[in-house]
Amino acid sequence: MCGIIGFSGNLEAAPVLVAGLEQLEYRGYDSAGIAVQSAKGVKTAKTVGNVSVLKEKIKEETFEGSCGIGHTRWATHGGVSEENAHPHRFGKVTLIHNGIIENYKEIWEEYGAGKTLASQTDTEIAAALFDALYEGKPEETIRKAVKLLEGSYAFCIMFEGVPDTVYCIRKVSPLVAARAKEGSFVASDVTALIAYTQDYFVLPEDTILVLKKEELYLEDLQGRRVEPEMLHVNWDTTAAQKNGYPHYMIKEIHEQPEALHNTIAPRMKAGIPDFEVDKIPDRIFKEINQIKIVACGTAMHAGMVGKVLIEKRVRIPVAVEIASEFRYQNPIIDEKTLVIVISQSGETIDTLASLRLAKSEGACTLGIVNVKGSTIARESDYVLYTHAGPEIAVASTKAYTVQIAALVMLAMRMAYVRGKLDEAGMKKDYELLKSSVEALKLSLTLEETIKELTYALTDKEDLFFIGRGIDYALSCEGSIKLKEISYIHSEAYAAGELKHGTISLITEGVPVIAIATQESVYAKMISNIREVKARGALVILITQEDMEAEEAIYDYHLTIPKLPDEFTPIPTAVILQLIAYYTSVHRGLNVDQPRNLAKSVTVE
Ligand code: AGP
Repeated sequence: MCGIIGFSGNLEAAPVLVAGLEQLEYRGYDSAGIAVQSAKGVKTAKTVGNVSVLKEKIKEETFEGSCGIGHTRWATHGGVSEENAHPHRFGKVTLIHNGIIENYKEIWEEYGAGKTLASQTDTEIAAALFDALYEGKPEETIRKAVKLLEGSYAFCIMFEGVPDTVYCIRKVSPLVAARAKEGSFVASDVTALIAYTQDYFVLPEDTILVLKKEELYLEDLQGRRVEPEMLHVNWDTTAAQKNGYPHYMIKEIHEQPEALHNTIAPRMKAGIPDFEVDKIPDRIFKEINQIKIVACGTAMHAGMVGKVLIEKRVRIPVAVEIASEFRYQNPIIDEKTLVIVISQSGETIDTLASLRLAKSEGACTLGIVNVKGSTIARESDYVLYTHAGPEIAVASTKAYTVQIAALVMLAMRMAYVRGKLDEAGMKKDYELLKSSVEALKLSLTLEETIKELTYALTDKEDLFFIGRGIDYALSCEGSIKLKEISYIHSEAYAAGELKHGTISLITEGVPVIAIATQESVYAKMISNIREVKARGALVILITQEDMEAEEAIYDYHLTIPKLPDEFTPIPTAVILQLIAYYTSVHRGLNVDQPRNLAKSVTVE
């Protein structure tokens, strides 16, 4: 999960590359670098730290040339250091890479004899391979090299003696490309291209892309020209900017009403969900006898909400699987299984591998994906795009709530197709879905209250989220949000499970965020809250507005409007997002780019 960019055109390359890296920085920010090609050769600059550190480093330098490559790194193979930063040069080859070369040792044993490496990266070994194979014909070199490389890669390569040209090839790791009046562009995702064009294409795997000043073209591994399948993105550069907000995360939290509208409205016809526009036929819902929802992180937490929604309406078993586990557990799936993979980026490698496994077992696969044209979207049998727009902050917010909305609509349609819900029932559910979006807007008005109460969490080092039923799924989401951006250790617990061990950790002042929106188990939740309060917990209670709670059992009480139990997640999620956001802000941390993380996990 690094950000890579390549350019060849009629602008000075260095500023183009740096600006592109700033748009890609959410993909990784351990180190950054550029390499620019001119008649005098290739000039490289790289540094530990994010793109702003690189900008500072090169501001006094001159980079002649209108062709180059740039990279912002999330360290995988080799620690965070300047020598491990990309671009890497070996002999006549300069390249950048996103992915992992798994057979780097064998490659080095075969092609590194008598040579030395300047870094501890698999990428430099790949550069050495390209260099060893290079005899003045770049495409031929690439064709030979990719037969030898194992693992995942997106390479942008410049060869000595071939001016103003960048060569690219990918396998698993993403690359998109475009031609604009300024020249030819390639990048990890479209956010780096949007300043120049909204028309782009995804580079097919095992296809060589050649970027030149006046043209770009694609060749397959047999040297035949390939025509790209053009895509159009319907948002502009402002969508990928902060637009006056202090952080992308708070901007994206506030974009949720629009994101939800854009995701729901196109699928609603006369008050019932209709996936004709998505080319998802009803028949895929008819014969299935089980559903597996497979995802990672927040997307998996959305799947946990989806399980409750679908099982309640459709009455078939739904299992939520962690993708990195599912892909290795020889799952019991077949042609009567619907596998729903959820992914904001559409590039998460464990989710992609699970998708491929599900297809190989004959299951029907449906992707819920936010990035158009992403690998998971393209490889799923069917795809239900969420329309949240670009999500830049590492902590996922609007992507999560639109995933829930997509799952609500799927549950409604499945139940209708299988005779478990009539049109009247669907129309009622649609109204409730709209009510939950309205309730989310009310949750946003709690921002100042939450900003104040989170000062009480600023110096805490441990925190617990507890909930029952769907509120346990929300507890899991609240916990990951808080952990990943505030660095406070937190755990999510099924409230009924707390007294089977973990309650021993509840002592004076330990914060417990008790999510108690479920009418069906509210009395039991209150008992669990009493148990932690009795041991001195600092309780932040979240309930529906009409739920009684004596003041003795909480320190802070936040409410959402009254809704049926299964429609509470969307407004509840915003409260949890704001708690995490302001706790991180009060702790003075980098909310959008938390340590050790990156936006899209495209390595295993
Ligand atoms: C969410 O806040 C995290 N950044 C992370 O858990 C994320 O949801 C996970 O990596 C899955 O990403 P995806 O939706 O792009 O597949």
